[in-house]
Amino acid sequence: SVKTTTQTLRKLKGQRPIVAVTAYDYITAQLADAAEVDFILVGDSLGNTALGYETTVPVTVDTMLHHTQAVARAKPKAFLMTDIPFAVAGHSCDYVLDVCTRMLQEGGAEAVKIEGGQRRAATCATVARAGIPVMGHIGLKPQDVLQLGGYRKFGKARTERQILIDEAKAWEDAGAFALLLEMVEHSVAEEVTAAVSIPTIGIGAGPKVDGQILVISDLLGLNAGKYPGFAKRYANLRETAVAALSDYRDEVRDGKFPE
Ligand code: KIV
Ligand code: NA
Repeated sequence: SVKTTTQTLRKLKGQRPIVAVTAYDYITAQLADAAEVDFILVGDSLGNTALGYETTVPVTVDTMLHHTQAVARAKPKAFLMTDIPFAVAGHSCDYVLDVCTRMLQEGGAEAVKIEGGQRRAATCATVARAGIPVMGHIGLKPQDVLQLGGYRKFGKARTERQILIDEAKAWEDAGAFALLLEMVEHSVAEEVTAAVSIPTIGIGAGPKVDGQILVISDLLGLNAGKYPGFAKRYANLRETAVAALSDYRDEVRDGKFPE
């Protein structure tokens, strides 16, 4: 297969659904790329899945760089995107641009994802103008969890539906090449998808979007804890892994390994 670029992804809108998954290190990146997904996101959800934090709020720029570098070393054919973490995107254009530049130069990412609404989109036009591909992220923005007081679906109320459409257009106007919709009312996700010419990627946003993304540990069934309702489990790797580790434990204790 050939290397996936922003052009590949843009062309897929209206052709076939785009397939994406998160990866957090060298091994998960290799798994994702072997499955020939279209793009890999080094999501700041690594704060929860890989690092054990309650939220994505403690994830720093250095943490994102560290994990992005590990994923980049897998040299994926998939397009490689990384998350701009909490507190960065709220800063001045110059700081946001500086961090985004580092994600490409030092991290090895090929694009950045930034959570935010209209005002943030306007700030981020600078990033797109600097030649950095940007994916906007609207709907549920987990970095706002402390302000929101929890996670919920977006776009139920009419005013919120209009806000989402305006935000989507603002990201497109700012030069974003794609848009992520998290926990958005399905009919609204469909409306947003029709309202913009850039591909929309959904998570908990229903089927009427241009692509889907899932968190790799949810998809593979690696978590011990709760799974979000929208996260389909395609395997139960936690069970498989614990069984293998238990066999190893028993064989060592019983003197069966090594033979
Ligand atoms: O960090 C993450 O995993 C995300 C999801 C929306 C894919 O941003
Ligand atoms: Na994220």
